[in-house]
Amino acid sequence: MEEINCGMIRLEDVDSRVSMHGWCRLIRDHGGKLFIDLADRYGMTQLVFDASKNPGAWDLGREYVITAEGTVRKRDEDTVDKKNPTGDVEVHVESFEIISKAEIPPFELIEEKKKFLADEELRLRYRYIDLRREEMVRNITLRHLVMKEMREFFYEKGFLELEMPILVKDTYETGSRTFLVPSRVHKGSFYSLAQSPQIYKQMSMIGGLDKYFQIVRCFRDEDPREDRQPEFTQLDLEVSFKDEKYIQGLIEEVVRRIFKNILNTDLPTPFPHLSYADAVNRYGSDKPDLRFGMEIKDFTEAMKESDYQIIKRVISNGGRVKGFAIKAGFNGDQGKLNKNYMLKLIENAKALGLAGLTWTYVKENALTSDPESIIKSIGEAKEFMVKETGAQNGDIIIFSSDLSESLLLGVLGKLRKSIGDKLGDFEKEFSFVWVDQFPLFEKDEVTGKLKSSHNPFTAPTKESEKFLDSDPEKVVGRQYDLALNGYEICGGSIRIHDPDMQREVLEKINMEEEKINQTFGFLLEALSYGAPIHGGIAMGLDRFVALISGSENIRDFILFPKNKKQELLVDLSPTKISAKRLKNDYGISLEPDSKSEEGKAE
Ligand code: AMO
Repeated sequence: MEEINCGMIRLEDVDSRVSMHGWCRLIRDHGGKLFIDLADRYGMTQLVFDASKNPGAWDLGREYVITAEGTVRKRDEDTVDKKNPTGDVEVHVESFEIISKAEIPPFELIEEKKKFLADEELRLRYRYIDLRREEMVRNITLRHLVMKEMREFFYEKGFLELEMPILVKDTYETGSRTFLVPSRVHKGSFYSLAQSPQIYKQMSMIGGLDKYFQIVRCFRDEDPREDRQPEFTQLDLEVSFKDEKYIQGLIEEVVRRIFKNILNTDLPTPFPHLSYADAVNRYGSDKPDLRFGMEIKDFTEAMKESDYQIIKRVISNGGRVKGFAIKAGFNGDQGKLNKNYMLKLIENAKALGLAGLTWTYVKENALTSDPESIIKSIGEAKEFMVKETGAQNGDIIIFSSDLSESLLLGVLGKLRKSIGDKLGDFEKEFSFVWVDQFPLFEKDEVTGKLKSSHNPFTAPTKESEKFLDSDPEKVVGRQYDLALNGYEICGGSIRIHDPDMQREVLEKINMEEEKINQTFGFLLEALSYGAPIHGGIAMGLDRFVALISGSENIRDFILFPKNKKQELLVDLSPTKISAKRLKNDYGISLEPDSKSEEGKAE
């Protein structure tokens, strides 16, 4: 008797005797016969039980785990299930055994019933049941295949797979918030969970291990979003004596391989490049979605002479007017986007910080508006707008103005992305684009002080290094990000390998000498013992896998993700720890109001 899985048998197996294990997914009682679709991660096979042979089968419930033995039979023509690879056959059960009974599952597991897909919180609470769904099996398997291709690629290229420490020194001054781990041995001292292996992979380069990669868990105490988790995975790498072109080439090659071997698609490489300034000015984002056009244009000069009073006032105070055209097939009432949508868009723009948003459309080769008074006040500028955006009949042009150009661009960029996603009118399925030439520093909006635009280890370009002292905001970093469909999937840079330069950059971001020594003294010291030129990159694996499957929710591609409140619902963590244990083991005292119930009882 052959032991098989639930996705295996075909017509050629008819008459073989088989034994299989699985979950009773779908149960149909046809009087003297009972049909059960037995499922596992490989597929689903129809079992047929006969009342005369197996009366006990009528006691089976949904998601019971059983072992069954029987003979493969061809199905009657009218019961063939074309959608299922095992759908031509069924197994006539001779004997079976219940391995486990199961409570009634809290939600539906059959793919066709997806429209009844349960609330995500419920699915996260019972993730081990959710993982049985075909879609989740596909997602998790894809993630495995991507990791396998990555590993094979880097092994073939001669990279060492090295494990960097996870319990590390806290350097929160320069990154996101960190998760702290108290030390029992060193009371009052804490490790930080590594936000990324950044400094340690740099020290490995100093150690001469010139080609490193790792698929590694990183920890950042950020509020989760669709594309963000407090615990996530990076494909991380670092190399010595190479430049940005080599590192970007590696990423292009590994992504191409994944597309070829897993998705069976030839991905064109090299990926296009945009400077940071171009990305922001043309698309309102440093991770632009280039699956569609809708390039942002500047209408300031043209609008100077208009009678549009609100906008004129902004211009005379030094503000700018910008907008873009949307291929909307608009006919004065509706098209792909209707008036209601435009009104919602205006509300959206306001919620994001703009005073308003104007929408116009092209009809019979001229820009018009509803009400018409708007277009009248725009005057001559309307011809400029149509020409500049290349708008055609049926296209909508939206525009707005603000004193802050970066706010204006940022909001237009967000609207552009949401309209693009809504229309779904993509020129290509995947848009990869490198964004580079980032400023090394940016001004903190709250304090007005300089901070690193990425991390403080990025080297300045040779040409702009001279501005470090005189005009640091002019310094360009050797930083490169990779965006896919409007999401940042990679970040990397060539690093500073000179300790004096590293100290200078840390000083520029307002770290006092003492603080520098305390926080980064160990790195400065390491750099002083012979550091090679080095650089690297990290790819957000969760994002990458989600995006190549056409999804934007990374939780669906993580085995046990945190929910939107940073909770792991399968084990209900985080949990309170008793005040007594904190005190005894770690020397930590809690404020009275944050003491756990458990703590009070002790
Ligand atoms: P960076 O911080 O840009 O770079 O991270 C690299 C990539 O990791 C992904 N990512 C995340 N994914 C899910 N949840 C999160 N909270 C999250 N944060 C980041 C993104 C991002 O592009 N040490 C540097 C890399 C380097 O310079 O080599 C670093 O960590 O896709």
